[in-house]
Amino acid sequence: MESFIRTLPKVELHVHIEGTLEPELMFELAQRNQITLPYASVEEARAAYQFEDLQSFLDMYYLGAGVLQTEQDFYDLTWAYLLRCQHDHVMHTEIFFDPQTHTERGIAFQTVMAGMTRALADGEQQLDISSRLILCFLRHLSEAAAFETLAQAMSYQEYIIGVGLDSSERGHPPEKFRRVFEKAHDAGFLTVAHAGEEGPASNIRDALSMLRVSRIDHGVQCTQDPELVRALAESQTPLTVCPLSNVKLRVFEDMADHNLVDLLRQGLCVTINSDDPAYFGGYMTDNFLAVAESFEVTKEEMAAFTTNAIRASFLPDEEKAKLQQRLDHYLQVQLHPIL
Ligand code: HPA
Ligand code: ZN
Repeated sequence: MESFIRTLPKVELHVHIEGTLEPELMFELAQRNQITLPYASVEEARAAYQFEDLQSFLDMYYLGAGVLQTEQDFYDLTWAYLLRCQHDHVMHTEIFFDPQTHTERGIAFQTVMAGMTRALADGEQQLDISSRLILCFLRHLSEAAAFETLAQAMSYQEYIIGVGLDSSERGHPPEKFRRVFEKAHDAGFLTVAHAGEEGPASNIRDALSMLRVSRIDHGVQCTQDPELVRALAESQTPLTVCPLSNVKLRVFEDMADHNLVDLLRQGLCVTINSDDPAYFGGYMTDNFLAVAESFEVTKEEMAAFTTNAIRASFLPDEEKAKLQQRLDHYLQVQLHPIL
């Protein structure tokens, strides 16, 4: 199973580019930009990555992002993530970024976009990894700030396929961004939202009805509401689940307590993703391995996470078909080698 998972073709739908900042690169960029970090060493930074909940993580995550200043910094960050994708056999990735984390510090929207898009173009050409960008509004900031950010995004629609909602879920329900999402829809953006990570199942219902999202990021609290679980199965609304993240942020105490395999078996469109891999202890392969180690799952079930992610992706149908062919070919070779 381990070698099957390592080379299994994968599709990532939930990763925050700022959450891929490894301590090594954080130190390099801090030095390059003459910024003092509150950690004495890479080891000390890693040791500090112990979290009680989402907020305790977010505090460290925003601090780390402070080293990102120049176009080259955003290029280096994105390129390092793409190399991890190559290592983990990720064929396609849909990447979140938090522009407000940078524009609030005086970094231009254009600086962030230019660095990321240059790396993504290189990733497509040199690594054969396709990608899309999804802008996330920080839900702890105001509706007005989100509107301003959306206005900036309008000039980058060629690069930004959709908008989402991240940061502190508690106290910042979907309703707060209903009007922003209406405007985003009108402008042609697709939409997603973090909901039901540590907030209630009602946030999932509200994200679907009020924000008209195509996917729910996390969504694991849906099991509080059996009617909602049935509705998610029926509608095939994708959930972008992040197993290592959920254990690190104590959404589940132990991987064995996680509900994703159960939800998959109930017919929901569940996918596996890495969220903030530099902080949570692993990229895509690590997340797949952690699930396979804690549950009695078949190779077909593990492959179903990729099939679901292909279906749930924002790619055109012909691109989805190509990815599915690559997966089918892999399964043919791995599962039926002599046929
Ligand atoms: N949840 C909410 N906001 C985030 C996360 C997350 O897991 N990662 C980065 N921003
Ligand atoms: Zn997330």
